[in-house]
Amino acid sequence: MTRTLITGGLVITAAEEMHADVLVENGRVEAVATPGSQQWTADRVIDASQKYVIPGGVDAHTHMELPFGGTFASDTFETGTKAAAWGGTTTIIDFAVQSKGAALRSGLDAWHAKADGNCAIDYAFHMIVSDVNDSTLKEMDGLVAEGVTSFKLFMAYPGVFYSDDGQILRAMQRAGDNGGLIMMHAENGIAIDVLVQQALARGETDPRYHGEVRKALLEAEATHRAIKLAQVAGAPLYVVHVSAQEALTELARARHDGLPVFGETCPQYLFLSTDNLAEPDFGGAKYVCSTPLRPREHQAALWRGLRTNDLQVVSTDHCPFCFSGQKELGRGDFSKIPNGMPGVENRMDLLHQAVIDGHISRRRWIEIACATPARMFGLYPKKGTIAPGCDADIVIYDPHAEQTISAATHHMNVDYSAYEGTQVTGRVETVLSRGELVITDREFTGHAGHGAYTPRGTCQYLH
Ligand code: URP
Ligand code: ZN
Ligand code: ZN
Ligand code: ZN
Repeated sequence: MTRTLITGGLVITAAEEMHADVLVENGRVEAVATPGSQQWTADRVIDASQKYVIPGGVDAHTHMELPFGGTFASDTFETGTKAAAWGGTTTIIDFAVQSKGAALRSGLDAWHAKADGNCAIDYAFHMIVSDVNDSTLKEMDGLVAEGVTSFKLFMAYPGVFYSDDGQILRAMQRAGDNGGLIMMHAENGIAIDVLVQQALARGETDPRYHGEVRKALLEAEATHRAIKLAQVAGAPLYVVHVSAQEALTELARARHDGLPVFGETCPQYLFLSTDNLAEPDFGGAKYVCSTPLRPREHQAALWRGLRTNDLQVVSTDHCPFCFSGQKELGRGDFSKIPNGMPGVENRMDLLHQAVIDGHISRRRWIEIACATPARMFGLYPKKGTIAPGCDADIVIYDPHAEQTISAATHHMNVDYSAYEGTQVTGRVETVLSRGELVITDREFTGHAGHGAYTPRGTCQYLH
């Protein structure tokens, strides 16, 4: 077994920063020590001086190969996890999908069939529940026991993934009993569908109307309702892809009242806005996702929420569709544009830029991108930190390198970048996944099939 020594870097975890040498053996961190203090021998020495040594990113929200909007998300588990590695992410939690009328089990089996043997980094699953009924509720217990400990429900997308309030309440009650965590897509989809039809009837077909009909108030209303339902059920709640200031206000109020309510936002809501949705020549379609991008004013509230811990996690909601042939399905009708944006490769860099810009501290960067997502979804301390015994998922990060984000150089299987031309300071140099070099000095040295399915424990903020 290879022994790897990483010397002279600044090790950053959510808890501390220290100049230290890190010894890796048998895929795990063996020891962390003051630089030069130990006479360690190793087969491989990585010089990390002038660099950061950080835990691999944990992206708790991706959709590889998702069938959605009449097509499939364009990254496979292979292309998407390779791109994730390039961007310094070493674990993804993707969403297996229950088809209406089918069992959770068959959805989970189908997602294993897509992912197993194909991932370059480690992966785990949440379960999208699109049909809450007696047998699904029973199945949830078994899934929690085997390591699928979180369930996404939708207040949006009537006729597709939508659950009504009674179904949501029942699923929450079950999660309250079995230790599962309900993840909520909080938008009032019934009201939004009325506004969609009214907009189309007025001839408002451009991508920017996607942002206008999916109102911030309807995100806030659904967030409020989800919180109250969870309170009634006695269950914890994790609200995904929070984009509206008004929704964040609902979360903050619940948290200040001491409720076990958590919130995630995504880089697109922190860095992009309705200005992008208004780009000409149907260009706004590249930015169609739900919840939608908001006017720029919402960004300051989201950054504040990340600093005050009213928001705890930044995930990507990576769900790429090519502009050509996929986003184009919605020319002349914004409601037919497949919802979702690429970003799994960009998250760690964009959040490092946020450190440089003064929005968050270095340790908070690691907390929201690595440690907290691992804890939230029962993967800590195996994932999300650098300490003896944890998986050697480690990124050597050059905080001074300059790069320009572009589709011409990214590795995601999608024909545009949502951040095209954005200059960021900081770049991933080398990535280890369980001690194996996946990226070596900006060369891909990993392989599909290295990534292991990783069953999870329950949310670690509840006990
Ligand atoms: O637009 C999005 N977010 N697409 C992916 C599915 C979801 O709702 O997370
Ligand atoms: Zn969603
Ligand atoms: Zn999603
Ligand atoms: Zn391998």
